[in-house]
Amino acid sequence: MAIISSFTARTLTDAATSLRAGNLVAFPTETVYGLGADATNSQAIAKLYAAKARPTDHPLIVHISSMVNLDRWAQQVPEYAIKLARAFWPGPMTLILPRTNLAQDFITGSQDNVALRVPAHSLALALLAEFEAQGGLGVAAPSANRFGQVSPTSADAVYQELAGYLTPKDLILDGGPCQVGIESTIINCTQSVPEILRPGAITASMIFDHLGLAVKQIHSASNNLKIKAPGLLQSHYAPKAKVFLSTTPKPGDGFIALAATPTPAGVIRLASPKNNQEYAQLLYQALRLADSKQIPNVIVIPPSGNDLAIAICDRLERSAYKS
Ligand code: TXA
Ligand code: MG
Repeated sequence: MAIISSFTARTLTDAATSLRAGNLVAFPTETVYGLGADATNSQAIAKLYAAKARPTDHPLIVHISSMVNLDRWAQQVPEYAIKLARAFWPGPMTLILPRTNLAQDFITGSQDNVALRVPAHSLALALLAEFEAQGGLGVAAPSANRFGQVSPTSADAVYQELAGYLTPKDLILDGGPCQVGIESTIINCTQSVPEILRPGAITASMIFDHLGLAVKQIHSASNNLKIKAPGLLQSHYAPKAKVFLSTTPKPGDGFIALAATPTPAGVIRLASPKNNQEYAQLLYQALRLADSKQIPNVIVIPPSGNDLAIAICDRLERSAYKS
């Protein structure tokens, strides 16, 4: 598969044509890199699941270039979902809505709803617009990693994850590092009130401040990383290194914490983000760095706050080692 890093109208046309032909195209979004496939093509979607080794009952997010295309995929869209889409699209937010017939079982995991997102990345939007200009209706794109691994936030990371599983016809579009760094906020819009299923950069407090809309949160708003019984948490976003939260690092351990926290002697600093936004941006890259340095144990001091910290702590809880 080829990695493309300089773009002309022609390269984007060709990438869209390749998607339309049923090939896979990895592309950058503002959150993480996605592995794209034509969301109406069952064979392309089968290739996508195989490349990721993802169980087929895990549904995919359909990416569209604008909320104008929402009605093709979703119906009975509640008023609050329209407000959310107007306020936060393009952006790091995915809406779960009742599906139309266009959203077939092979992308929804046979559920009656469909996940939709308009990403805020110029390259992604240009690709989606070109794909739609060629008659396409939506691009299914999970994070471009093998199932259960850390999402890629650079084209290099996509290559490391998937090179062995893509064909010569598939493409990786290199749009540089992702700005947000963790996956989109997923909001269930199939009930009378919206509910955050996966926290992300669009937070409940932002939604309340912008729209006066109260959103239920499946994850508690506190960032106290309560000890939960091992096995209750789904293991995900996990590097090869064992991740330990809020413990004291020993010499030779990897260490991730805000810049204000000093590095103990002999410990390998993997990231020193200045604030929570930078923390989200750097987290996955830092976990990958641990693996490339073959560091067995990584100690992470989670951030606190009511903003992106909620999403960062959610990912950390899931990536943490369970004995
Ligand atoms: O930021 C993102 O959302 C990235 C970029 C590429 O857009 N995509 C992403 O996709 O994170 P993925 O497949 O790695 O994670 C999507 C999550 C999965 O946990 C999936 O189960 C859930 O969204 N999901 C998708 N469709 C759903 C549906 N209809 N109902 C409930 N959950 C759904
Ligand atoms: Mg994923």
